[in-house]
Amino acid sequence: MKIAIAGTGYVGLVTGVTLAHLGHEVWCVDVDQNKINDLKSNLCPIYEPGLEELMKENSSRIHYTIDYKDAYRNADAIYIGVGTPERKDGSANLDYIMSVCNQIIESVIKDIVVIIKSTVPIGTNDQVEKYLKEKMRKGISVDVVSNPEFLAQGTAVHDTLYASRIVIGAESLRASEIAKEIYKPLTVNPYNVPLLLMSRRSAEMVKYASNDFLALKISYINEISNLCEALDANIEDVAKGMSFDSRIGSKFLNAGIGYGGSCFPKDTKALHFLSKEMGKELTIVKACIEVNKKQKAKLIPKMKKDLKSLKDKNIGILGLTFKPETDDLRESPAIENVRELLDKGCIITAYDPVGMNNFKKLFGDQIVYAKSLLGAIKNMDAVMILTEWNEFKEIDPKLFKANMKNPNVYDGRNCFDINQMKKSGINYKSMGR
Ligand code: UGA
Repeated sequence: MKIAIAGTGYVGLVTGVTLAHLGHEVWCVDVDQNKINDLKSNLCPIYEPGLEELMKENSSRIHYTIDYKDAYRNADAIYIGVGTPERKDGSANLDYIMSVCNQIIESVIKDIVVIIKSTVPIGTNDQVEKYLKEKMRKGISVDVVSNPEFLAQGTAVHDTLYASRIVIGAESLRASEIAKEIYKPLTVNPYNVPLLLMSRRSAEMVKYASNDFLALKISYINEISNLCEALDANIEDVAKGMSFDSRIGSKFLNAGIGYGGSCFPKDTKALHFLSKEMGKELTIVKACIEVNKKQKAKLIPKMKKDLKSLKDKNIGILGLTFKPETDDLRESPAIENVRELLDKGCIITAYDPVGMNNFKKLFGDQIVYAKSLLGAIKNMDAVMILTEWNEFKEIDPKLFKANMKNPNVYDGRNCFDINQMKKSGINYKSMGR
């Protein structure tokens, strides 16, 4: 099939590349000419393991362009994978979605199915279809399908090809048949992905309800971990003990310095906003948002208690990205923590395997960027670990003692064994242990 994709961010690009991998002819559209030029040279604009390889492997079936008219004109289906950023009040901003709709109206010359992959508030697909139907040239039929995305950054390619499920929300047979046809290769060997058909509003809700549930799980374990600290229990043992109950499971029970990224913070706020508007406030989601905000600030007080004054102290930061295997900094706990340490007069040296260039765009020369992990440890008064990169977890704890001025380590991601750290002579504080 001929498929056009609006947006070459995480969702759009991964969708485009994997659909090409499944045999479809794909046009990836973006407004950013520089990005399109890079993509044309098979340079992946985001750090996503396996994506660039897949781009190269399927380059004969993928076209990158800013010419949306050319891409949309003869497409059998157009995906919308543009951002829906958070507004000040927590609601989702749909401006990018609407601007793609206007381009579709301008360009399309035959019947079309528009598939919305971006995370949008419940009811948006209905509104978009109404808008497109009203404005589309006479004689052209348009159907809108909700097809939420469940990929996680860092494992995006695998999460798309071996997805937990494909959710299709459609209101007409034609629309659901086209969506089913596109995904047919994924529903058979070797992928065998379950495909679920439902109403558009239910599909939109599946996305928010899933993300908010996962965020709740994290905030719950984080609150339990805070209580563990107060009661001298160990959150890792507690989470392990819980996880053997298959109804609870072991995933997303890692306590830490809070969730970040472009999805959980935004999607919790957007669903909370919507629920309030409907007069059915999700107080549980509100609590989850508050817990996460407080969680991000849990480590500095521990450091302050040990070091007394933080002024002019040399602090090493290990990890800047919101999680490992991505260069994304959106809502990363590192941003607020570095900001606060700078406010307190600390001298910061940071190291991250892939996130430093993006961090430089935010903090410039306010901090020092180390060339290696060791550079962010050497001669430091304290080290703060904010992302659980394997490169950090694999080091010998003795390295801290041997290189730091004072071996104070504050670990927001529970990367090390507490007993081993103690044996290595390190003043080690972590989360809930
Ligand atoms: C998340 C969801 O996991 C995906 O299913 C969803 O498709 C995606 O949002 C989206 O809406 O597009 P992502 O934001 O890439 O994916 O990252 P996650 O792996 O879910 O991690 C989110 C945050 O939670 C990270 O900051 C991570 O460190 C934190 N986390 C995760 C914890 O603090 N503890 C855990 O046990 C797990």
